[in-house]
Amino acid sequence: MSQLIVKGVSKTFGEGESLVHALSSIDLLIEKGEFLAIMGASGSGKTTLLNCISTIDKPTSGDIFFENFDIIHAKENQLADYRANNISYIFQSYNLVETLTVFENIVLPLQIQGKSVRKYQTKINDILEKLSIQNLKRKFPNQLSGGQRQRVATARALIDDSKLLIADEPTGALDSANSESLMTLLQEVNKVFGITILLVTHDPVAAKYSSRMVLLSDGKITDDIERKGLSNEAYLQEIYNRTR
Ligand SMILES: Nc1ncnc2c1ncn2[C@@H]1O[C@H](COP(=O)(O)OP(=O)(O)OP(=O)(O)O)[C@@H](O)[C@H]1O
Ligand SMILES: [Mg+2]
Repeated sequence: MSQLIVKGVSKTFGEGESLVHALSSIDLLIEKGEFLAIMGASGSGKTTLLNCISTIDKPTSGDIFFENFDIIHAKENQLADYRANNISYIFQSYNLVETLTVFENIVLPLQIQGKSVRKYQTKINDILEKLSIQNLKRKFPNQLSGGQRQRVATARALIDDSKLLIADEPTGALDSANSESLMTLLQEVNKVFGITILLVTHDPVAAKYSSRMVLLSDGKITDDIERKGLSNEAYLQEIYNRTR
């Protein structure tokens, strides 16, 4: 059973002359632990697809199941639980709170969800260690480099045992060195923590860190390739060939 099942999902915006088919009958099965890159031209439906999965948007028709949970027919309070328990985001700007320390930023999702920080102490230390940021705990965001901010934002996304990490163009505002370090970090986090990642990107160089690439064109999936045993270079070439 796939972790995430997207079945015949369509989404339209507007009506009459301004009707837009943002998604047209999308079928997609995503397995636990996959690192999926979603690519496609501007306006092809990438963000709309993520928004339907994260319940920010509701499809016009079709079904979406996450670990058997029917998110299309769920009640609002069940959806709030679904989002809180399963989904984390990495934002382009990282959204760190400048007046809180690194440690306070990382435990913020736990506090928002009313969970005990003490109970998570072992997990917190484990994440800090795996991301090599133990020594930054008491610093404030404005004392960090770009790469360190990425690591802190990633730690915060991992802290509450979410199963799905969603990132919409996280490298859009980064130079190539920081972009590469974020992607390496996501690849590492995907391997070490087994978290499923859905990454939207325009950049084949960022997409090469994924394990699978799905291409959207005008709201339809027009290509779906897996890395399998390919090296980064061979996989990148394949992505270039498909997205050109
Ligand atoms: N809230 C909305 N109201 C009306 N039309 C919308 C809305 N959101 C998206 N659209 C339209 O749906 C289509 C898909 O948009 P979407 O944002 O999913 O594209 P995208 O692939 O994420 O593009 P980009 O790479 O530019 O972010 C576009 O034609 C867009 O104009
Ligand atoms: Mg978008």
